[in-house]
Amino acid sequence: MASAHPLPASITIRRPDDWHVHLRDGVMLAACAEHTARQFGRAIIMPNLVPPVTKVAEASAYRERIRAAVPKELKFEPLMTCYLTDGADPAELTRGKEEGVWVAAKLYPAHATTNSAHGVTSMDRVAKGLEAMEKAGMPLLVHGEVTDPEVDIFDREAVFLDKVLAPLLRRHEGLKIVLEHITTREGVAFVEANPGRMGGTITPHHLSYNRNALFKGGIRPHFYCLPIAKREEHRLALRRAATSGGSQFFLGTDTAPHTTDTKECACGCAGVFNAPVAMQVYTQVFAEEGALAHLEAFASLNGPRFYGLPVNEETVTLHAKPLDIPDVVAVPGGGKDITVFRPDTPVDWSF
Ligand code: NCD
Ligand code: ZN
Repeated sequence: MASAHPLPASITIRRPDDWHVHLRDGVMLAACAEHTARQFGRAIIMPNLVPPVTKVAEASAYRERIRAAVPKELKFEPLMTCYLTDGADPAELTRGKEEGVWVAAKLYPAHATTNSAHGVTSMDRVAKGLEAMEKAGMPLLVHGEVTDPEVDIFDREAVFLDKVLAPLLRRHEGLKIVLEHITTREGVAFVEANPGRMGGTITPHHLSYNRNALFKGGIRPHFYCLPIAKREEHRLALRRAATSGGSQFFLGTDTAPHTTDTKECACGCAGVFNAPVAMQVYTQVFAEEGALAHLEAFASLNGPRFYGLPVNEETVTLHAKPLDIPDVVAVPGGGKDITVFRPDTPVDWSF
């Protein structure tokens, strides 16, 4: 939808944060950290490393590796999360929160997505951990897809809401929950039906394209991520939610780097690497919807409010100037690279 009003030449907002990021480790971390840190003041760091981050000491050590990978001149705070496994230790959750290491814990249903083999097989098996989180005021971040292979891949989010998330909300009445990377209108409606208890993150790529993009002119692996993009009606629901100004929705890029060779192959990995272009694409979406006035709430205010953290004091400015997107980001050593997300439509905003 084009705005009836002329667009400004620039927009200045408080420095945004990214509430869902995969920074990986080793050479991938070295390649990616800077791109997130250039755009965002803080980021919620996903714990799906191999092996996953389940212990306070592991998270502290990973946080140090992230800090070391960020160029010195950038101010960036990694916010760490605990990967929940069956039998997750309530004491480890409580202690990590008290020590200022855990900000939240992440629930991956076992085998739902990349590096989720150690994920949770039944909610009963994390009930004690979730009770500890309720008491500690630690939010639960949810990958909201069922893993039953009988359920169609495009229905897995909607089925998860009914089968898993609704009972979870009833069972743990004090738990705050983020439905991560929402991809359906049902997901939007579910979050909206639980004000005060739920938030939802929305990625730039799910705002930009629908499932047709995966197959436009041939199979296009760089548009493949989980949860997979859905029909156009769902993309439009996400755009309405993100740009509405509603306080429950906030920015989470789900930037998920995989090397180009592991995406362009017979069984390619799920994940879109959008870190270098994230704010530019979000701004494009808000401009197209005539909602630039709500960009700051989505990108910089709603997330901190949900997590009970202060907003950033610095500001950033985006200019109405066509974005030049690099094809790839190089991975140090070994000659590999990561393909950067390139929407099919032009991005007219840059830093
Ligand atoms: C993520 C990854 O690669 O770690 N992949 C993705 O498609 N989003 C995992 C996830 O967030 O599901
Ligand atoms: Zn993710």
